[in-house]
Amino acid sequence: MATADQIKALIKSHAEGDDARFFAVAMQMAAHAARQGKSRFAEELKQLVDRAKSDQAGLRRRTKPVPMVQPRGELSGLLSAGYPGTRLPDMVLDDVVRKKLERVVLEHRQQERLRAHGLAPRRKLLLIGPPGTGKTMSAAALAGELHFPLFTILLHGLITKFMGETAAKLRLIFDAISETRAVYLFDEFDAVGGDRSAENDVGEIRRVLNSFLQFLEQDDSESLIVAATNHPQLLDRALWRRFDDVIRFELPSPGRAVETMQSRLALFDTKSTPWEELAKECRSLSYADIVGACEHAAKLAVLDERTRIDPEDLASALRERAASHVGRS
Ligand SMILES: Nc1ncnc2c1ncn2[C@@H]1O[C@H](COP(=O)(O)OP(=O)(O)OP(=O)(O)O)[C@@H](O)[C@H]1O
Ligand SMILES: [Mg+2]
Repeated sequence: MATADQIKALIKSHAEGDDARFFAVAMQMAAHAARQGKSRFAEELKQLVDRAKSDQAGLRRRTKPVPMVQPRGELSGLLSAGYPGTRLPDMVLDDVVRKKLERVVLEHRQQERLRAHGLAPRRKLLLIGPPGTGKTMSAAALAGELHFPLFTILLHGLITKFMGETAAKLRLIFDAISETRAVYLFDEFDAVGGDRSAENDVGEIRRVLNSFLQFLEQDDSESLIVAATNHPQLLDRALWRRFDDVIRFELPSPGRAVETMQSRLALFDTKSTPWEELAKECRSLSYADIVGACEHAAKLAVLDERTRIDPEDLASALRERAASHVGRS
């Protein structure tokens, strides 16, 4: 028989919508049963878990190209929809960032409990940090973890396309935010978040920023609003206060750089790869650069019909990326 703790863990993970934990506990129960000689029950449990997992994977694959909710009418030009399969464990993150993102997921999964005590989950996040450090990917991972659709709003496009009526378009977006529970990513947010007193500020951007601030303040929906920028210095302080959490992304440390390479190349033979040496080539590179260099080395291996990654291929791809950043501001 399963232990009382296992049954409790099973119910808890189901209630929290934590599928990975749910399946892990079910597999522990199967192992427990097998140890007690109940091999038939153990096998049945294992099959049930395998089937449930592959059904889920299939569902994710099938729903990807044909999203369930697509923005219609006027909204269709303002938002783009996706159903990301990205999860937080797919990302390499430093401890503080991971904790903050996990806390958002937990608070959303437990929001009924929080609300019963007059508390609300963190819903308005500001992600800041250099290009290629995982801001956009984190918004996708939050959507993936919560099984929410991801709607992306490119404000820059909005402003140039709808000069003079951006504020009205913004209202449409905030109406959608309260109607359809999802993750709403305002990417490249600096287009609207620029300091209101900056000299080169055009009136339109200032108007849009003011309406954004008002809408953000008034919003009490159940959606997650994520704004991402790599120019935090352009953001007005008035804006920061309106977010429930500000998450800072950094370039990878040497340890995280190695973790990124190992995770991207996990399906290849990387025995005897001098990771520490390669990590030195990663100084000043972003996660996106490192992933790109790994993919380059992996392609060379595949085209050469090798399973082994040549460390020299990887080193020169990393160097090439570093060289292309020289003089980058
Ligand atoms: N922390 C990370 N862990 C794993 N892969 C990452 C991470 N950050 C970036 N990547 C890789 O780099 C790609 C680009 O990252 P992403 O678009 O999230 O960067 P960004 O911070 O939004 O950059 P930008 O400021 O230019 O928009 C991702 O699709 C992923 O392949
Ligand atoms: Mg981005």
